[in-house]
Amino acid sequence: MVARVIPVEDFDLVIFGGTGDLARRKIFPSLYHRFVAGQMPPEARVFGAARADIGDADFRTMIREALDEFVPDADRDPEQVKAFLGRLHFVTIDATGENGWAELAQRMRPGVIRAFYFSVGPSLFGALAERLHKHKIATPDSRIVVEKPFGRDLASAKALNATLAAHFAESQVYRIDHYLGKETVQNLMALRFGNMLFEPLWNSHYVDHIQITVAETVGVGGRGAYYDNAGAMRDMVQNHMMQLLCLIAMEPPARFDPDAVRDEKLKVIRALDPLEPHEIVRGQYAAGDEPGYREDAGDPKSRTESFIALKIHISNWRWAGTPIYLRTGKKLKSRASEIAVVFKDAPHSIFGDDAGQHRNILTIRLQPNEGMTLGVTIKEPGPGGMRLIDVPLDMTFADALGPELEEAPDAYERLIMDVIRGNQTLFMRGDEVEAAWAWTDPIIEGWEARHDVPKPYDPGSNGPEDSMMLLHRDGRRWREIKP
Ligand code: BG6
Repeated sequence: MVARVIPVEDFDLVIFGGTGDLARRKIFPSLYHRFVAGQMPPEARVFGAARADIGDADFRTMIREALDEFVPDADRDPEQVKAFLGRLHFVTIDATGENGWAELAQRMRPGVIRAFYFSVGPSLFGALAERLHKHKIATPDSRIVVEKPFGRDLASAKALNATLAAHFAESQVYRIDHYLGKETVQNLMALRFGNMLFEPLWNSHYVDHIQITVAETVGVGGRGAYYDNAGAMRDMVQNHMMQLLCLIAMEPPARFDPDAVRDEKLKVIRALDPLEPHEIVRGQYAAGDEPGYREDAGDPKSRTESFIALKIHISNWRWAGTPIYLRTGKKLKSRASEIAVVFKDAPHSIFGDDAGQHRNILTIRLQPNEGMTLGVTIKEPGPGGMRLIDVPLDMTFADALGPELEEAPDAYERLIMDVIRGNQTLFMRGDEVEAAWAWTDPIIEGWEARHDVPKPYDPGSNGPEDSMMLLHRDGRRWREIKP
């Protein structure tokens, strides 16, 4: 099966921070892939804008080097690279001064979509938004794209929302959470709302509990300064994990349109109970063969968590009584992200004690080895009576959909094209982000007030022992972390 390419309208896209790390690693490689796929209209152009005193030619060289580094060899065709680079331009600009703005205004074409990607620190959002207006570069139809972290608590997120709202309507603001651009994450909605099979059972009458795991093997080395100010709660839970939780728990929206979907997600966030200290486990990876977290973070006394496990309750009719366990961490055993929906035991076993205990578990593998497995209970083959065993109904997307889709497109490819299409469904709305912080803030404030120290865990492990206890106490256990 070959992925379908939906054409987009002609555009001028400006990447502020165009020489930065994100632009080089993600934005330009993604644009290149879309170009090769034939999705960039013939006249569409991309501008890098940054302080660097360089011209179009130097900028193209810089991006060619980025493509060499971040686009797999097999996808890099010299002719295509050359043609793509021809679409790139550069404007030297001073975000907080007046330099370069008149030139940018003059280079924008009338009558095409204008999108502005703020790939810069949030402290510059206000200055950029203001100047885009002052120099009449932004039109009522222009879009701006902003990255996480969107604030570090409710107050700063509100301030950022207000800064953007001073110049742009909410319908023009695209807040990226790259998890929403992942194929498998979007598939959660297809699975739930495109099938009749699961939805009738998708509630606390049938579901015992849900586990959401995002496990990474990497540490924070190299970005310790940022991470130590964030921790797993701000870095992963408030945004990516919250989005997974919403998609798994929300009510069916009436339509697959931006506000219908985001209204339902918001209701989930607003129904989350505050957490008690015993429902939270924080961990920090210890030194092993490689430096431990505190060394990576450059603070021998750091109390920032690189692992977190939570027991979450959603107080609504669908989920009351069914906990959602969440865990995420760095330097764990394997890189594996999955959601496991663990169904309740059958109300009565007609097969007697010999049959053993069996449960259906639906596992959705988000990455790697994308796919899903439904554990079903069958009779153990043979003449030995009615003994039961669990077997997997297994589906890997690569097998089911063909090798072309084995390498799912990077989340940024889909998201950037959605910006051009003007589709906000996979972006976070301002009130959604604020609600997520409103739930997160008291949890973090609690640790700070108690001077909570995360539990050390061995690199390459499943996280701290206490995380196992979080489920053991409830007579449950985490699924093994494996790809
Ligand atoms: C980022 C976090 O948003 O997501 C990182 O800042 C994390 O700490 C990353 O490693 C995980 O993304 P992915 O796509 O590799 O699962």
